[in-house]
Amino acid sequence: MRNEPLIPSVDLTVHHQISGISDAIAFGFTKSLRFVADTFFAKRYGHRAIVLETVAAVPGMVGATLTHLKCLRRMCDDNGWIRTLMEEAENERMHLMTFIHVAKPTWIERCIILFVQWIFYVAFFLLYLVSARTAHRVVGYFEEEAVISYTHYLAELDEGRSPNVPAPAIAKHYWMLPEDATLRDVVLVVRADEAHHRDVNHGFASELAGVPASGVSVCPYPEHAAELQQGA
Ligand SMILES: [Fe+2]
Ligand SMILES: [Fe+2]
Repeated sequence: MRNEPLIPSVDLTVHHQISGISDAIAFGFTKSLRFVADTFFAKRYGHRAIVLETVAAVPGMVGATLTHLKCLRRMCDDNGWIRTLMEEAENERMHLMTFIHVAKPTWIERCIILFVQWIFYVAFFLLYLVSARTAHRVVGYFEEEAVISYTHYLAELDEGRSPNVPAPAIAKHYWMLPEDATLRDVVLVVRADEAHHRDVNHGFASELAGVPASGVSVCPYPEHAAELQQGA
């Protein structure tokens, strides 16, 4: 009998309603990038995951760095933001390390990763300096799109268009998945991670805007495995 992995349920319907120019800019930017990604990758979900996870691992580290520097200058507490953002960056890097065992990036994709990383790092750094609120809202909207993309990936696997191969060892180790876990289980935990980042970043943006934040979905990172076990 198959060992079922512990995967938190994900609210797939979360969407932050645009309120003000900052949200509108963040949403417009996200939808433009979504259009570019859809055009370039179409249904090559493994390749799409690799390239986009190299981008997704940038904001957490930028946010952590700039929050750290701000707290040093102002000699104030970070309210846990720095650790949360660094955890996000590490988690996104683990998504990347997992998906390179599922699809191999082509040399064109490697060139795109190099090019996009320079532009995106600098652009996001500047955006965070100018408006941390908009920057977190951008990530919140990015993550809404990531949840949608991984839901499409699940449909590809469930309908047999992509093979449901065994989960890579690195993924089983990181998310503490059972020995017989499959790619489908990995996509489910990754999607739960993305939903968590979505809610955390929308929450940070709302906090900076001085409006109440909504709830945060459960995080399946290994650090939180004990909470998951208790809830099971
Ligand atoms: Fe990710
Ligand atoms: Fe993410």
